[in-house]
Amino acid sequence: MPRNGQNRLLGVARRAPAMIFRRTVLRFHVLAGAPLDARARVPVEVRRFDRGSPTLCPLLAEIKGARADWETRFKHEHWCYVGHVQGRPACYVWASPREWRVLDRDDPQPLAPDVVFIYDVLTVERERGQGVLPATLAWSLRELRAQGFDRSCTIIDDRNIPAQRCFAHVGFRPAQPAVATYRICKLYVRRCILGSPRDLAPTPAPHRNGQSNGNGGRLP
Ligand SMILES: CC(C)(COP(=O)(O)OP(=O)(O)OC[C@H]1O[C@@H](n2cnc3c(N)ncnc32)[C@H](O)[C@@H]1OP(=O)(O)O)[C@@H](O)C(=O)NCCC(=O)NCCS
Repeated sequence: MPRNGQNRLLGVARRAPAMIFRRTVLRFHVLAGAPLDARARVPVEVRRFDRGSPTLCPLLAEIKGARADWETRFKHEHWCYVGHVQGRPACYVWASPREWRVLDRDDPQPLAPDVVFIYDVLTVERERGQGVLPATLAWSLRELRAQGFDRSCTIIDDRNIPAQRCFAHVGFRPAQPAVATYRICKLYVRRCILGSPRDLAPTPAPHRNGQSNGNGGRLP
């Protein structure tokens, strides 16, 4: 075998353990009561949608650059907040008021009545780095708070620094891992589910109708 080929093989062998056993941690981030006033460097207008339409769904697909089962999300009473820059859709934020899950195919886990789960946040590439998503998120969370959702959590990959910074601008703080996985020869194996948002409640909060939720404000 030519020397070059041998070197390449040795290189692959040396990197293999890292490639095979690379650890993935998806971590909860919780809103820690900081001010929700994140300003973008460009004016952002936010609109909330609670049902799909023949014009909205292609627009969401255009933002994502892919299709998703938007109708099912709306059927489960999730809400979509779309941020516009100069009249053009620039980002979106999804809010799930009753359940959280890691992947679409996972079983949904219940949330306390005053907790909203934020997921699938995205800014189109041309508008990234201007604070468009934090501004949209802050607007959405203020609106959700007015409806009684005082607490919020999301799940972010530990390697996704832009997303972590984006949520940190709005007052989210990292908490415990939701899922840790190991990659084994392209097969993702879920090793453990280490936690749920039940332990993450920063402050006891009243029920959205002003009554206690019966568990001291903690998640069920
Ligand atoms: C994460 C994401 C939503 C942030 O949206 P955004 O509108 O660019 O948010 P911000 O402007 O606050 O930028 C957040 C961070 O991205 C990084 N960033 C800055 N300029 C950037 C650019 N041009 N392109 C990409 N990232 C950039 C910076 O680290 C910035 O943090 P900082 O402002 O504290 O320095 C966006 O990068 C995105 O859509 N990523 C792909 C989807 C994704 O990862 N979603 C999160 C799933 S949990």
